[in-house]
Amino acid sequence: MDDFYREFILDHYKRPRNFGTLEDPDVTHEEDNPLCGDRIRIDLKLREGHVADVRFTGQGCAISQAAASLLTEKIKGASLERVRGFSKEEMLEILGVPLSPIRLKCGLLALKVLKTGLYGLQRWPGEEG
Ligand code: FES
Repeated sequence: MDDFYREFILDHYKRPRNFGTLEDPDVTHEEDNPLCGDRIRIDLKLREGHVADVRFTGQGCAISQAAASLLTEKIKGASLERVRGFSKEEMLEILGVPLSPIRLKCGLLALKVLKTGLYGLQRWPGEEG
């Protein structure tokens, strides 16, 4: 990982954007990474088909928490169609660091929480196991 991206990730880890919880959220969902037990919870307030507000809390590695911080910045104010269409590839692109297969779970945990919460599903479609 080069220095710029290390700093970028550490900045979001140490000063997470949109950190906290929302009172009376329309969607709230929390999951852990079964490999390590790290957790992320995301709360959403929805208005007229858009994400009016978003907060997250969690504890875990720098990649997982930075990814959650970055994701909340991306989806705040976005339409639900946009959020539903937000892909794993986009998530990895905004993280900007190459991730090993194990670390992929870290980088994608926040997106999984978001999508699962949004769809009210037990499992993210397309994910096995
Ligand atoms: Fe647990 Fe990264 S090591 S989410």
